[in-house]
Amino acid sequence: MSKIIAVTNQKGGVGKTTTAVNVAYFLARRKYKVLLVDFDPQGNATSSVGLDKESLKLTVVDALDESTDLAEIIQKTRFYELDIVPSTPALADAEPGLAKVDIGQRFVRLRHALADVAGDYDFVIIDSPPSLSLLTINALVAAKYVILPVQAEFFAMEGLTQLLNTIKLIRQNGLNPTLDILGVLPTMVGKNTLAKQVVEQIAKYFPGKIFNASVPRNVRVAEAPSFGLPVGAYDKRSKGGRAYDAVTKEIIERTR
Ligand SMILES: Nc1ncnc2c1ncn2[C@@H]1O[C@H](COP(=O)(O)OP(=O)(O)O)[C@@H](O)[C@H]1O
Ligand SMILES: [Mg+2]
Repeated sequence: MSKIIAVTNQKGGVGKTTTAVNVAYFLARRKYKVLLVDFDPQGNATSSVGLDKESLKLTVVDALDESTDLAEIIQKTRFYELDIVPSTPALADAEPGLAKVDIGQRFVRLRHALADVAGDYDFVIIDSPPSLSLLTINALVAAKYVILPVQAEFFAMEGLTQLLNTIKLIRQNGLNPTLDILGVLPTMVGKNTLAKQVVEQIAKYFPGKIFNASVPRNVRVAEAPSFGLPVGAYDKRSKGGRAYDAVTKEIIERTR
């Protein structure tokens, strides 16, 4: 069965897209069939795997309004076993329309769109926008697991209570009763004492949920997207590349 994982945190710039792209890439390198769903209007995941956003004919928006099957929107990437559902800023324009959809449909559009194609993949990785929007809720409703990237900086925990409450509500009201936090991933971990303290604080706040691996702040990770490459393809031996490989291994173990 396909394992659907949403990468979520309503804060921007915490490493969601980087995590979604690199976990998807390293899963595919391990010969799993992977679908990366770019569910952020910024479309950064789309360009991070080498697609040209300007030339896209169909994007995730066309599945959200039910005009097109997701199967027609999926594109192959240059990476073996890694496919993508691309996104563009048009996704932001689609949100008000989604808010007007019947309440029984509003939260489940992405889940329904994925239902027909998920079976073709071992993993579906959903990148989500930096907000607690309808889009994020659609991602959380479609997923079985959530990964929470948390930037190892002061204010890291800010907003997490709100996100956890949203996850709780989604479980309780029957939208997605088995939604599970797969793990909390410290990202951009610097060598300073503060970063160490924040990681300890995260571990305390999420007992048993923090990944053993964490992602160091590493310039190769930041450079890779400008080449349309995940860091694993850009510089596999970099600290960032090795960290995401280790995180991916843990994800495989935790979803077994
Ligand atoms: N481990 C890292 N080391 C250095 N830069 C990073 C790292 N992770 C992410 N970045 C950079 O930080 C910025 C924000 O990351 P991103 O994944 O886009 O966050 P989000 O999707 O949560 O907004 C991007 O420019 C990205 O390249
Ligand atoms: Mg992002």
